[in-house]
Amino acid sequence: MHNRSWAEPFKIKMVEHLRMTTRAERERAIAEAGFNTFLLRSEDVYIDLLTDSGTSAMSDRQWAGLMLGDEAYAGSANFYHLEAAVRQYYGYKHVIPTHQGRGAEHILSRLCISPGQYVPGNMYFTTTKHHQELAGGKFVDVVVDQAHDPDSNFPFKGNVDLDKLGRLVEEVGTSKIAYLCLATNVNMAGGQPCSLANIRDACALCRRHGIRVFHDATRAVENAYFIKLREPGYAHKSLAEILREICSHTDGCTMSAKKDCLVNIGGWLAVNDDELADAARNLVVVYEGLHTYGGLAGRDMEAMAIGIRESVEFDHMRARIGQVEYLGRRLMEAEVPIVRPIGGHGVFLNARKFLPQIPREQFPAQSLSAALYVDSGVRAMERGAVSAGRDLITGNNTFPALELVRLTIPRRVYTQAHMDVTAESVISVYENRDKVVGLEFTYEPKHLRFFQSRFRPVTGERVFTA
Ligand SMILES: Cc1ncc(COP(=O)(O)O)c(C=O)c1O
Repeated sequence: MHNRSWAEPFKIKMVEHLRMTTRAERERAIAEAGFNTFLLRSEDVYIDLLTDSGTSAMSDRQWAGLMLGDEAYAGSANFYHLEAAVRQYYGYKHVIPTHQGRGAEHILSRLCISPGQYVPGNMYFTTTKHHQELAGGKFVDVVVDQAHDPDSNFPFKGNVDLDKLGRLVEEVGTSKIAYLCLATNVNMAGGQPCSLANIRDACALCRRHGIRVFHDATRAVENAYFIKLREPGYAHKSLAEILREICSHTDGCTMSAKKDCLVNIGGWLAVNDDELADAARNLVVVYEGLHTYGGLAGRDMEAMAIGIRESVEFDHMRARIGQVEYLGRRLMEAEVPIVRPIGGHGVFLNARKFLPQIPREQFPAQSLSAALYVDSGVRAMERGAVSAGRDLITGNNTFPALELVRLTIPRRVYTQAHMDVTAESVISVYENRDKVVGLEFTYEPKHLRFFQSRFRPVTGERVFTA
């Protein structure tokens, strides 16, 4: 199966033109954006690896599905198609659409967290943790130690550390634990999977204590692919079978359908419990829209239902993750420090090793993403101290072990040649790494600061002087 090259299981029918910029234009654009790649205009970006969220190319079947949008306010046919697809592939009983993942996180956090409760999770995610905190909860990291070590080659760095989880339960007692927030293909660890054995054990531990498990299923299919490749006993199972097995251990999920499900907008909350579903349907009308559209158009739900079916096709996932691996291998060959093993949705540069001369207080990953943009117009994203934000109690910056720049690959969008151009630019910045300077805040917003913060170089006016 793996002795031949992969190739995309599609051909290209329509193209979108990209604008090339000069270095002087990029210097100007990044300064205007406050050295934050989120604040760049997309038309100033050549290869956009900011995120894989909502940036996928939809298939001809999905575009055809848009024309079948039933835009009734209530009871749209497309809602029932979505519900059927989620039930079939993810296996949860009740499905409540939301405008995107954080809409589902908001509803779940409000319903299932009481002020003062703890929410253990296998590494934090920005919006997920923020909603947990807004509901009065406190996130506790229970991921395995290997997840915090960018050089560890452990194949399941997303795993829950059962000792950490067990200790928390003993220390605070079950009534103080809202639920286990179990992410698959953990984003902040570098797109790293959990094994099914670990999911089974973590969920069994929770069940013994009467603690519910809610799954962040945003990249569960990518996780299923790694289980098929790496976990004994799963090589002959389909991605769809593995996905169902993952979900079967949990009580429900939040979903940002903008990733695995191959759509530009959408999400859902799914739960098995009838009472919780009723409460969620009641709350969704306040914040998102009626429970049969949750802030989405009928056509969006149709595209999502079709995208779910396409996402579990093995050849799709092999090409998707194959492309990420291709970029990662090119960087490893050039000895650029990246998170290992290469993850599912992107290649993560280890900015602490890449730019050892820049102290953590000057945000090396933020500097590196700005420098990369200046070099070539490739847009990446900071995933380090700026994303981690401040400690709730002390108000100090928190410095997670991982200080990363994420080169996130949209699904079905770029070619291998784009990966080559990206690798060449990263390698060139690496060769000139002594010419990258640190940054300091000029503006820091209160919520999810990485999106809108502004910075200036600590010396001079340029972030990259090569
Ligand atoms: C793991 C994970 N959970 C939740 C979310 C939030 O989803 P959304 O961006 O659709 O609100 C994201 C996306 O950024 C994510 O990567």
